[in-house]
Amino acid sequence: MANRILTGIKPTGQLTLGNYIAVLKNLPKLMNQGDLFYFIADLHALTLPIEPNVLRQNSIDLAAFYLAAGLDPKKATLFLQSDVSAHAELNAIMQNYLYMGELSRMTQFKDKSAKMKESAIGLGLFAYPVLMASDIILYDANVVPVGEDQIQHVELTRDLVNRFNNRYGDVLVIPKYEVRKVGARIMSLSDPTVKMSKSDPKGDIFLKDDLAVIRKKIMSAVTDSGSEVKFDPENKPGISNLLTIYACLKDMSIEDAEKQFVNSRYGDFKKAVADAVVEELEPFQNRYKQIIETKAYEQVLKEGAEKASKVANVTLKRVQKAIGLLGK
Ligand code: TYM
Repeated sequence: MANRILTGIKPTGQLTLGNYIAVLKNLPKLMNQGDLFYFIADLHALTLPIEPNVLRQNSIDLAAFYLAAGLDPKKATLFLQSDVSAHAELNAIMQNYLYMGELSRMTQFKDKSAKMKESAIGLGLFAYPVLMASDIILYDANVVPVGEDQIQHVELTRDLVNRFNNRYGDVLVIPKYEVRKVGARIMSLSDPTVKMSKSDPKGDIFLKDDLAVIRKKIMSAVTDSGSEVKFDPENKPGISNLLTIYACLKDMSIEDAEKQFVNSRYGDFKKAVADAVVEELEPFQNRYKQIIETKAYEQVLKEGAEKASKVANVTLKRVQKAIGLLGK
């Protein structure tokens, strides 16, 4: 079977260097290794309150980011989740095959809901993994590139697929997650013990940040005691995170990055990391601006929705038939 590679990003908050490293950096390489379905998870963005204008703008930005990262619409399919109604339809079916106990064990749900009053937690936030499993299943995806925080959701998808196939025969493709060996979890620059998320302006590098601001953030990143540039996440989380960012952007191993800085002081090392990030993001931002100006994403999303719907509807029919829904 062909290599079907699928992943999505939620258009909430501002995209970070963590998202870039998890999904966008490898995009050109993966595009030559299989059939890519990359999407904007706008239905997932609704699981926490979001203003319509913000959702709209973030979705456009994200489409432009995928294209700026090198997604070639002739080789890969880029689409909005909400443009393909099969996602919602399969979600309605699959919610019967995942259980309350499983969903309440999901770390993401626990983290996000911990900060909320119970009366304000939407059902969608709880049922998030059902929709995510449906996203993956619809495209017969066998490879799902994600960051470390999404592994649990892909594993739950595997459980669901196995459960479904045991009951109905080999109907669904079993997916597997793919995380980077280096950089599966980029940490905050202001607190390197927590993940870089989309909501901490000091600790996050946002893809739309001014380049001077990015330099400043890196130069003021929290470092550790001592003076050696060494990869030691436990005792030197700040330096290890910066080394990880450097290694990812330069496509090198941590060992090689470490060797490069054996005799460097923290200040020189940080400057080299800032240079590497700026070198990567400057051309990326220029491409993004151009795509936004020409609105090149509009046609791509339109055609992407058509291509994605065709593939998704075939799987949806297969599922409907297998479980006994009559249909056309
Ligand atoms: P989202 O939008 O939170 O994040 C997009 C991708 O970025 C990864 N990521 C990180 N990787 C390394 N370091 C970080 N600090 C960091 N922060 C985020 C995430 O792991 C993710 O791969 N549920 C998904 C979206 C989704 C999806 C799917 C993904 C919906 N349906 C189907 C794959 C397949 C999410 O919220 O990603």
